[in-house]
Amino acid sequence: MGTSLVAPSLLLLLAGAAGFCRALFSLPLRVSLPAAPGGSPSAPVLLRPASSSRRQQEPLGDTDGLALASDPGGTLNFLAMVDNLQGDSGRGYYLEMLIGTPPQPLNILVDTGSSNFAVAGAPAPDVTSYFNPELSSTYKSQGIDVTVKYTQGSWTGVLGTDVITIPKGINGSYTVNIATILESENFFLPGVKWHGILGLAYDALAKPSSSVETFFDSLVRQAKIPNIFSLQMCGAGLPVSGSGTNGGSLVLGGIEPSLYKGDIWYTPIKEEWYYQVEILKLEVGGQNLELDCREYNADKAIVDSGTTLLRLPQKVFSAVVQAIVRTSLIQEFSSGFWTGSQLACWDKTERPWSFFPKLSIYLRDENSSRSFRISILPQLYIQPILGIGENLQCYRFGISSSTNALVIGATVMEGFYVIFDRAQRRVGFAVSPCAEVGGSPVSEIEGPFTTADVASNCVSSVSFHEPVLWIASYALMSLCGIILLVLIILLLIPPRCQHRYTDNDVVNDESSLVRHRWK
Ligand SMILES: *[C@@H]1O[C@H](CO)[C@@H](O)[C@H](O)[C@H]1NC(C)=O
Ligand SMILES: *[C@@H]1O[C@H](CO)[C@@H](O)[C@H](O)[C@H]1NC(C)=O
Repeated sequence: MGTSLVAPSLLLLLAGAAGFCRALFSLPLRVSLPAAPGGSPSAPVLLRPASSSRRQQEPLGDTDGLALASDPGGTLNFLAMVDNLQGDSGRGYYLEMLIGTPPQPLNILVDTGSSNFAVAGAPAPDVTSYFNPELSSTYKSQGIDVTVKYTQGSWTGVLGTDVITIPKGINGSYTVNIATILESENFFLPGVKWHGILGLAYDALAKPSSSVETFFDSLVRQAKIPNIFSLQMCGAGLPVSGSGTNGGSLVLGGIEPSLYKGDIWYTPIKEEWYYQVEILKLEVGGQNLELDCREYNADKAIVDSGTTLLRLPQKVFSAVVQAIVRTSLIQEFSSGFWTGSQLACWDKTERPWSFFPKLSIYLRDENSSRSFRISILPQLYIQPILGIGENLQCYRFGISSSTNALVIGATVMEGFYVIFDRAQRRVGFAVSPCAEVGGSPVSEIEGPFTTADVASNCVSSVSFHEPVLWIASYALMSLCGIILLVLIILLLIPPRCQHRYTDNDVVNDESSLVRHRWK
């Protein structure tokens, strides 16, 4: 483990050093630094809790709910929920909710990668509206402080309860746990139109502890709806962070037939914390990447509407970029485009999508000796950015690398109607009718395929998200860091008294440090 941890540290140092040499590039296409109005497009909203959560092992148990597109008790009208979301992949999709008595309307981000329901509880620079508990006669504070950290940003607030209604959701009002956010950092970003977050993952991720009943669990218990929800996000091919009014649907309690076509393919939920699934294989342009399937699940693979991009573990990311470069018709593509620091721009009359390959992700089927694949066309991962050049249309790369997860984020989810069937512990994918650009579908689902060519289990049995292991790994990493630091210092210190450094000798360029000292 020691050596495998040194490598990332070295890489980090090298990457840091490389950052200092902003190379100019000469390409067949024009590339500009991202400078979109209203925020840098290379810094999308990423809403990811730090994966330090405790988990709870629970038996398969709750198979009470039925995953049917029917109306169990006359309280559900799925058609009324169609188009109840607004937003885009860049800043997330949000739902309107009424909170408190009298009701205060707020827009709430839909996030399947966390488990707290939290709303702005005080004015803040980038928050256009907030919930004032003092104006609600039904609000009850629990006096418990809570902090949630995401990969970008964090917030601190106070736990309480109040009643909510969802105008385009389900009839009736329900009492739920609400964290009112009093302080936040990089959470509410400029231009976002939402004022709170609805964490739809399992209680294992809820803060400060899993005993805080999640919003959806409260809804299932009080409204007696089936333990299932489904999500359709309709931003395919439209500018990221554009008007922010692309539609979408969050269907509470079931599946709405008009939101998908073809069959629904289900993959088991490996563990109930995030929506963790098992990925067996990746293909770029029909070519298998041929990595050990455990690499695709390092250290987990999750379905997360609150993450903008498709995020891939570093090794997988490199392999995918290499494969795209090989398959695409564009040679010598700037590395800045792949890392997200640069946009690629083409003449407005051109559409670059035909230059890029299709990307396929194989998921394990409910029958474990079968798999199915979900594919996204370049229209989903080469994403237009609004308003850069006059005659140019610029695009960003909708895939990024991650150190601890493969995340099926909005980039992929915009291609599909995704069913979070908690009752039967499975996630379903079906082709979404709104995933079309210029009248052609930009997503596909095919199956079944045999799993004879992959391991019987691609999810590491060592649960790396156990707190103890995290502590151990952090300790090891720190140790490696210290050793490296000592080595660097030793390398930098000249042999004693041989030579007094003049100013000219001082190594002040980190890139040259790497080149000259680390041979
Ligand atoms: C709520 O109830 C009204 C009247 O009974 C009905 O028209 C409406 O469709 C219901 N909405 C939902 C989301 O079930
Ligand atoms: C699972 O899939 C295999 C291979 O397609 C098939 O032979 C088998 O009958 C399936 N099992 C069930 C329970 O459907």
